Amino acid sequence: MNTIPLEEIKKRHKYYNNAFFAKWAALYDYEKYLLTPLRRKAAKFLGLKPPKRILDVATGTGAQAYELSKQGHTVIGIDLSPEMLQQAKKKLSSKLTLSFQQADATDLPFKDNEFDVTSISLGLHDMPPEVDIIVLEEIKRVTKKNGKILIVDYNEPRKHWIAKIAFPLIRTYETKNWRPFIERGLETLLREVRLNPEIETNFFGLFQMVVVANKKINF
Ligand SMILES: C[S@@+](CC[C@H](N)C(=O)[O-])C[C@H]1O[C@@H](n2cnc3c(N)ncnc32)[C@H](O)[C@@H]1O
Repeated sequence: MNTIPLEEIKKRHKYYNNAFFAKWAALYDYEKYLLTPLRRKAAKFLGLKPPKRILDVATGTGAQAYELSKQGHTVIGIDLSPEMLQQAKKKLSSKLTLSFQQADATDLPFKDNEFDVTSISLGLHDMPPEVDIIVLEEIKRVTKKNGKILIVDYNEPRKHWIAKIAFPLIRTYETKNWRPFIERGLETLLREVRLNPEIETNFFGLFQMVVVANKKINF
């Protein structure tokens, strides 16, 4: 049984996460040369008519937030890592209503029902299992009733042969939280927090995309 208090788990995660991404931040943004089509597909998949107010959680270098803001939405990206946010801020432009701020997704500095849409892209797999559950509960809280939640993350190897082949490579560069996330699977995680996918698709079998309507049902 895990006897470590939750506050301690969050503290250790923050320390580990920020040390990891401080090293990778400058390099991370080069993923845009590979993953821009993923960001575009995710933004399109949401099927929103602007202008919406969107929160992008664990925004990293802001690639998904940037793609959503290019559609005409007002987007706020939050992240724990100052170095990732420093890279994200390079995407700011007077033509976009886009902003970034440092915040912990387990304790979002926003009121209930503040956003039409909340997205989290490639963020959950970087969180320990105790933390990702709290983050999804926070996402539900700040998203309006019947607002949309977009989740993009790695696909499970059991779901697609490309994810299966890529598994040994991905584990060489990902954080220690990636493997437990993949082994539990997004489906199980969403069931745990009572979020039912409305529509889902994948990107070359390697990534999955899920859109959930925030029902806000209390059991
Ligand atoms: C792999 S990056 C993904 C970034 C971006 N969303 C993307 O699609 O490229 C994961 C990000 O999650 C952030 N993160 C992890 N735990 C977090 C937390 N508790 N609160 C906010 N951000 C967190 C990390 O700092 C990192 O920038």
